[in-house]
Amino acid sequence: MVKVIVGTQFGDEGKGRIIELFSKSADVVARYQGGANAGHTLIIDGNTVVFHLVPCGIIYPNTMCVIGNGVVIDPEALINELTNLEKYGFKAGKRFFISNSAHIVMPYHKSKDDITGKIGTTHKGIGPCYEDKYGRRGIRMIELLYPEFFKEKLKTLVSSVDFQPMYEQYCKYGEILAPYIADTTALMNKWIQEKKEVLLEGAQGLLLDIDHGTYPYVTSSNPHSGGACTGLGISPTCIDEVIGVVKAYTSRVGEGPMPTTMAPDIEEAIRSRGKEYGATTGRPRRCGWLDIVLLKRVLMTNGIKKIVLTKLDTLDEMSKIKICTKYVPEANFALPELMYKTQPVYEELDGWQTPISDIRDYKKLPAATKKYVEKISELLNVEIVAICIGPQKDATIFL
Ligand code: IMO
Ligand code: MG
Repeated sequence: MVKVIVGTQFGDEGKGRIIELFSKSADVVARYQGGANAGHTLIIDGNTVVFHLVPCGIIYPNTMCVIGNGVVIDPEALINELTNLEKYGFKAGKRFFISNSAHIVMPYHKSKDDITGKIGTTHKGIGPCYEDKYGRRGIRMIELLYPEFFKEKLKTLVSSVDFQPMYEQYCKYGEILAPYIADTTALMNKWIQEKKEVLLEGAQGLLLDIDHGTYPYVTSSNPHSGGACTGLGISPTCIDEVIGVVKAYTSRVGEGPMPTTMAPDIEEAIRSRGKEYGATTGRPRRCGWLDIVLLKRVLMTNGIKKIVLTKLDTLDEMSKIKICTKYVPEANFALPELMYKTQPVYEELDGWQTPISDIRDYKKLPAATKKYVEKISELLNVEIVAICIGPQKDATIFL
């Protein structure tokens, strides 16, 4: 089975945890786009561990982990992350593979990332690195294995003052990462042919997709399920299932429209209960009600038939819960100026106003919780395979 797991909103849906959950039975976990802008938080033995580039599957000792060609890699961030993971006992060893064709984030990418702050990026150099990729002047992982070629190219890209220290630094990164650099396209296809259980881990969210998100307030890659094919070199025909991770409400960090913004007092309560602060940048996230209009479009364009609903317990204290079912005037997704002007129309449901985190049986959840879950399933016409109701490892109920 080849499954893609994607965030369906603006990122931070709780993908890390869901990927961890599904990784347990996976032979291979692979990232296909984005870079160290991602921040997937896992609680491991009471410690909060944030993953930026390494697939969450690394926590299972026999799982193969792949960073695909579609990812942009900051070698320094990756080495730091591997070192940190080793402290927790997670060793990359011979089961960690980096695509030789993945592009490298350079210091000059980071220094020119969204200088004006118009987009509110994570400043990890993601946009400028993809710009160079598409401008056909990018540097790829394989070049670190051939310093003589790398040297000639780098000379054409940076000033003579910057050249030598940067060259030496990146050659060092290359030496450290060399054991992992591989033809991951060949490996992925081999494993798929061998009928391995394969999990493809999306970063960011589908509304941040460069083509299908709220452009220009997006990231510079395709979190779209199709990005998994180009970002790993596998065929669309080998993908069996796309699972969407939906947070029980909406959040957004960075600029751009989010029509279902909550009233400030409710937003503050949700932000604090849901710990809605960026895992990569620490910025407070904007919070809003669940947006069925946007979700319907995302489910349609990505072929999502199953979802996991996360962070339901964040809504525990709400007396009323709103769901946006349409926009007036009808939303035009392609132009943020129109998205900013549109007004969401809500359906209002009763809240459950009681803690649900310790419940492990769906039937025992408050009636209002079940009503909210079932309403979402009905409005989206989708199967909800699991719900997350608390931060504890076992606080997930499979339906
Ligand atoms: P995970 O994988 C939430 C947002 C940034 C900004 C926009 C572009 O943890 O869900 P970029 O640095 O990518 O050029 O910034 O995208 N963004 C994310 N928001 N979660 C993420 O990742 C994000 N990665 C990027 O805040 O608005
Ligand atoms: Mg995150």
